Amino acid sequence: MLRIRSFTVQNLEEGCVTDSSNPAFWWELESTGKDVKQTCAELTVGDWTVKLAGENRAVYRGASLRSFTRYRAELCVTDNHGENASAELFFETGRMGAPWIGRWISDGAYRFTEKKASPVPMHFRKCLNLTKRVKRAVLYSTAMGIYQFYADGERVGGDYFAPGFTAYGKQLQYQTYDLTEQFENCGTHILTAVVGGGWAVGRYTYKERCRIYANRQALLAEVRIWFEDGSEQVIGTGSDWEVSMNGPFLAAEFYNGESFDARRMAMLGHAGDRTDAANQTDGWHPAREEKLRIHPDIIAQYGDPVRAHEVFHPVAVTRSPSGKIIFDFGQNLAGVIRIRLKGSAGQRITITHAEVLMDGELYREPLRSARQEAIYILKDGVQEYAPSLTYMGFRYAAVEGAEIMALSDAADQAAEIRSSSCAAAVEAYHQRSSFTSAGEAENPTASEGDLPQILRVEAVALYSDIRDNGSFSCSNPDLNRLQENIRWGAKSNFVDIPTDCPQRDERLGWTGDIALFSRTAVYNFDMSRFLGKWLRDVKAEQRWGGGIPMIVPFVKVYWQWELVVTMAVDHWGDACILVPWAEYLSKGDPSILREMYPVMEKYLRACRFWAGLFSFGKRRYIWKLLHHYGDWCAPGVDMWTWMRRGKYTATACLSNSAAIVSRISEILGKKENAAKYRKLHEDTADAYRSLLMDPDGRVRDEFQTAYVLPLYYGMLQGEDRKKAAEHLARMVRKNGYHIGTGFPGTPYVLFALADNGYPQEAFRMLLNDTCPSWLYEVKTGGTTIWERWDALREDGSCNTGEGDGTGGMVSFNHYASGAVGDFFYRRIAGIEPLEAGYRRFRIRPLICRDEENNGRFFLTQARGSVRGAYGEIVSDWKIVDDTFEIHIRVPAGTTCRAELPDGSCHEVGSGSWTYAVTVVKGEEGVQSEDHENC
Ligand code: BGC
Repeated sequence: MLRIRSFTVQNLEEGCVTDSSNPAFWWELESTGKDVKQTCAELTVGDWTVKLAGENRAVYRGASLRSFTRYRAELCVTDNHGENASAELFFETGRMGAPWIGRWISDGAYRFTEKKASPVPMHFRKCLNLTKRVKRAVLYSTAMGIYQFYADGERVGGDYFAPGFTAYGKQLQYQTYDLTEQFENCGTHILTAVVGGGWAVGRYTYKERCRIYANRQALLAEVRIWFEDGSEQVIGTGSDWEVSMNGPFLAAEFYNGESFDARRMAMLGHAGDRTDAANQTDGWHPAREEKLRIHPDIIAQYGDPVRAHEVFHPVAVTRSPSGKIIFDFGQNLAGVIRIRLKGSAGQRITITHAEVLMDGELYREPLRSARQEAIYILKDGVQEYAPSLTYMGFRYAAVEGAEIMALSDAADQAAEIRSSSCAAAVEAYHQRSSFTSAGEAENPTASEGDLPQILRVEAVALYSDIRDNGSFSCSNPDLNRLQENIRWGAKSNFVDIPTDCPQRDERLGWTGDIALFSRTAVYNFDMSRFLGKWLRDVKAEQRWGGGIPMIVPFVKVYWQWELVVTMAVDHWGDACILVPWAEYLSKGDPSILREMYPVMEKYLRACRFWAGLFSFGKRRYIWKLLHHYGDWCAPGVDMWTWMRRGKYTATACLSNSAAIVSRISEILGKKENAAKYRKLHEDTADAYRSLLMDPDGRVRDEFQTAYVLPLYYGMLQGEDRKKAAEHLARMVRKNGYHIGTGFPGTPYVLFALADNGYPQEAFRMLLNDTCPSWLYEVKTGGTTIWERWDALREDGSCNTGEGDGTGGMVSFNHYASGAVGDFFYRRIAGIEPLEAGYRRFRIRPLICRDEENNGRFFLTQARGSVRGAYGEIVSDWKIVDDTFEIHIRVPAGTTCRAELPDGSCHEVGSGSWTYAVTVVKGEEGVQSEDHENC
């Protein structure tokens, strides 16, 4: 039977509100049959219809869409077996450029002049009296700062940190919230909003800049109401709105956290007597229209909003030597705690957060100037609090100023509870939290003793609403944990923009981190909207000379010259090529390439300029100038060494980017450019070979990355390639199979080994669990990916980078070196596109025997699944004795080439397929020579 498994518009199955005049539709088919292909698809939107043959994507080309309108799209498909299926979806157009009736408003009396601090959150309100029945009401809103709305005291929507972070000078998102239900009844309604400093006004960057885009917060909103009698009303922000600096949010910023006074909560409105509340004008004064410094295009949300996802309960509760109650949530993450308390008005608790414990206390050194603190002032009774205008990077939270009954009970019984995890306490705590919820109602205000009682604590993960796109597991439990850590490293850093880390005073859109992680990201998550949004900023931030800032959206970081002067920097700037390329390979949509192509060309020109400056002959391709991060974070050497390696990493990077842009040129039908960039790739590769390597294939200054990059980037052929691979394998063996690469080499080191005849070395490196290695982090209890391979040293101390030039740089949640995840999917599961979007793909699992362990297989089972543009692909294999058995799932409309370890090859169409072959020792399939298959 044929079924439409998913049908999306602008990559959303539901809830799409768009300002695009040409929204894109996309669908996946599913069928119980085999060799199923779509033969015809008919897509209708209004009176526009398009007919397609095999394509599963279409862009709306009908009459101009009207603003504020709901549209229905219908899809009918037929397959090659004559089966039919149909589906429908609805989407809405946003403002489509309609002028705002609302005006930007602010508190005209508020002068925010402090340095290195964030502004006091601003509260706004509007009381409205509805005399007619509402058919539909929609709020359109945005802010300078970050905001959230409340309708009659209830939070509107589930978004965090709206309007999101974009290159505000150029573009700003607005959000759309349906208020129909809230306005169901006639009478008085109160709309309130709180606006914190966020990225635009608040403290940001480790140089603690404030007011980057605006002098103080501002709000722009409009409620459009369609009444049942057919009339319409628009209520826009203006001087008839009120503002207050005395609301319950006392302070809010990303680094320091949030302070909240629950006694003032009524200021956010409530469901009770609203007429009375509306008449309470204490603390409110009229808002004033605000003139902004910037004039961005204001566009309907096009990225994924940040939302609350997984909830973690504590796995341990301890009392620290200094007396704080410490909750361990068992997972490092980006998010907030949610705490349930019983207490009385005016009591105050403080919650601090950190990623690791040292001597039983939170270890906050790596946070640098970020306080990561939530301060909560209680009202009377049982209450719940979760910060919402900030987030923290943490696994542990310490509470001061409150008591937890279960813990003190347990402490009485076990004196040694101090600074050690206590299972009894956790158990008692869980029991207690369930029974107290029943007891609460009887005596809602009383608090035992002087301190408020903690009834329940949870950690809530906050990250952009990216959908899962793939999974990987295998017979080695440590690798499975590593895969989880890779995913958590990503989730914690996909908070509206791709950040480097979620905890210290940084959280910036570092381009190099996502450039190198993007291939892994697109296997694990559907990144289309998230990356689409960010790439729009990359484009907006490109300088006239072609340089891409190292952080996007760009914020100047004074006193660090490369973050003031924008230039081309290898791998960091190449995000403008590597990221769209990864997204294209995964989803097959060339529009992202088309959009970014001029940026790529301009960027390559800048790279060429810096490489060629003051040099002649072949030296013009050795890219030394102007600044490089080089082999960033390579273990065992200092920052100056990482950077000195820049001429190797940069030259290789230029060659690779030129090769990719050459292929993109071909895809876009630009033949001449394709040849031009191919030549650039070859000339640069030739310069690397002849000027940076000796004739015996040895690089002049040996380090792993210097071999990895030319091998993976296809810069070496024949004997050169063989020799370089030999040298790399020698280095790896000599180094006890420890990893020696920094950011640029890490994603590719295993490919460079395995694809060039050294799978043993690749697996030994992958499975090594002593420092530095991926599994060392796992063995040491890491639940995310670390910035430094030895962030936690073997002696238990933390490597804060003292004296290595980085100024105290260590994070336990940096996704960059999780880029090894790409190897899991592409080599171990063996799933690799042969055509972008996986219309044709290959499954070729890499299996390998351990010669030092009686020829036993390193891995005896693996399962990878990934959703390409056509549906879910599965490669699920196991080895029992000498039989390799594999189950393959091929989505409708695609073909798969299954290359099995006995050398056999099967071309199959859609459906489920199973093969079993015998793997004779010494005759397992060897990976082919191609470095990039698509
Ligand atoms: C960040 C990195 C970033 C790097 C650039 C660091 O402070 O955390 O992830 O890419 O600087 O060198």
